[in-house]
Amino acid sequence: MGIQSPFKDHPHSLRRKLLPYALYALLLIAIVHLYFFPSLTSLPSSTTTTTTPAAVDHLLTPKSTPSPSTVFVEEERKTNGCDYTDGKWVYDQIGPLYNSTACGTIKDGQNCASHGRPDMDYLYWRWKPNKCHLPRFDPNTFLQLIRDKHLAFVGDSIARNQLESLLCLLATASTPNLIFTSGEDNKFRKWHFASHNVNVSVYWSPFLVKGIEKSEETPYNRLYLDSVNDVWAKDLGEIDMMVLSIGHWYLHPAVFYYNDLVLGCHFCDGKNFTEVGFYDVFGKAFNTTLKALIDRRIDVIVTTFSPAHFEGDWDSLEACSKTKPFEENERKLEGMDYEMRNQEMEQVMAAKKNAKDFRLEALDVSRLALMRPDGHPGPYMYPFPFANGIPERVPNDCVHWCLPGPIDTWNEIMLDIMTRWNL
Ligand SMILES: *[C@@H]1O[C@H](CO)[C@@H](O)[C@H](O)[C@H]1NC(C)=O
Ligand SMILES: *[C@@H]1O[C@H](CO)[C@@H](O)[C@H](O)[C@H]1NC(C)=O
Ligand SMILES: *[C@@H]1O[C@H](CO)[C@@H](O)[C@H](O)[C@H]1NC(C)=O
Ligand SMILES: *[C@@H]1O[C@H](CO)[C@@H](O)[C@H](O)[C@H]1NC(C)=O
Repeated sequence: MGIQSPFKDHPHSLRRKLLPYALYALLLIAIVHLYFFPSLTSLPSSTTTTTTPAAVDHLLTPKSTPSPSTVFVEEERKTNGCDYTDGKWVYDQIGPLYNSTACGTIKDGQNCASHGRPDMDYLYWRWKPNKCHLPRFDPNTFLQLIRDKHLAFVGDSIARNQLESLLCLLATASTPNLIFTSGEDNKFRKWHFASHNVNVSVYWSPFLVKGIEKSEETPYNRLYLDSVNDVWAKDLGEIDMMVLSIGHWYLHPAVFYYNDLVLGCHFCDGKNFTEVGFYDVFGKAFNTTLKALIDRRIDVIVTTFSPAHFEGDWDSLEACSKTKPFEENERKLEGMDYEMRNQEMEQVMAAKKNAKDFRLEALDVSRLALMRPDGHPGPYMYPFPFANGIPERVPNDCVHWCLPGPIDTWNEIMLDIMTRWNL
């Protein structure tokens, strides 16, 4: 049986909801290896509130609205100028603005060149929208636009990946100084650009909402979908612009709470809760987050879900060994990538309807990202993986992006959105 058929024939069936989770269990095995794990010190002793899921069922399945997943959610392009999602990757000789040795803030695992990735072609592709022009990234313009401001990246390691790309791009014009760091693995950091009195920071918050990450004692995440995570919310008073980027952590086993009631769970082996998957709760997390931001005079960018490119086992030699982008029509956004991206677009559009002067935009990169199987570290997540010959098995990162690499384009598009905000 083809993997696709249940998606098409039974748009509302349970089968359609559950089949993808079985597939993503495999992807999860790969992804688990790529994320650093949380400290265990902040765990509360236990969670006591439980209830029948039926009591709060309505929160996850609004009866009157059509399923968002049946329609590819389109933004109102007219007011935004250009539909940059309609386009292709074209070869471009100019290449990246920075290189891996000149930029000091690239996380090791994404510093592909310094880890011996031999091919260079992946650096020479430029995203070309079909109907409009995407200007090259100009670091001075970016810094001008956020002069005297604080830009915060909030989310998981993909948020950090985009932040590190931005720091490298900006560093070609002005030197960032690290002024704050906290948490293991530098989960919380802040840089200052003296030239423009700009702060750029990163907050680790892989669910956006309040959550307790899994540990050895509790092998599943606990998410409180009605409250935002205080690690970033406490600083809202000093943040002028935010980039939100999450997704992959929602694949993990989890129990979901809303107003202290159990909504259900995901991969809830042996627990007496209803499997609710993670699409609806993912949307709910954005709903809660955007509601918290709506009256705050904070500009918000939501970077949409970034597809992974594992083929076969995560530790096979071919896991993501492509060296070229896909052709324009070679891949379609589908399955989980499609559902996650749609949840985000839905919530962004709902929030925009609710508050007209809220500067909020989706940075809709899911399709651009999908077309770049060549942009991941793969085995070069570790230095020189083939220095002692070619092993049978090698760990691969097919989730994050090499720096420099395709993710620099996310920031190029973000600058374009910000330029139009300021017109
Ligand atoms: C990287 O960039 C720096 C500064 O622009 C330059 O001096 C250096 O030669 C570059 N290195 C490589 C390997 O291209
Ligand atoms: C940047 O951060 C420093 C240290 O937290 C703070 O004193 C300063 O006011 C911030 N500047 C801006 C523009 O946010
Ligand atoms: C599971 O929950 C249902 C509904 O609350 C209850 O009727 C049933 O007895 C529970 N089963 C177990 C094994 O606890
Ligand atoms: C959140 O969800 C509610 C209920 O579906 C909806 O009415 C509201 O517009 C959403 N708010 C935001 C900010 O997305």
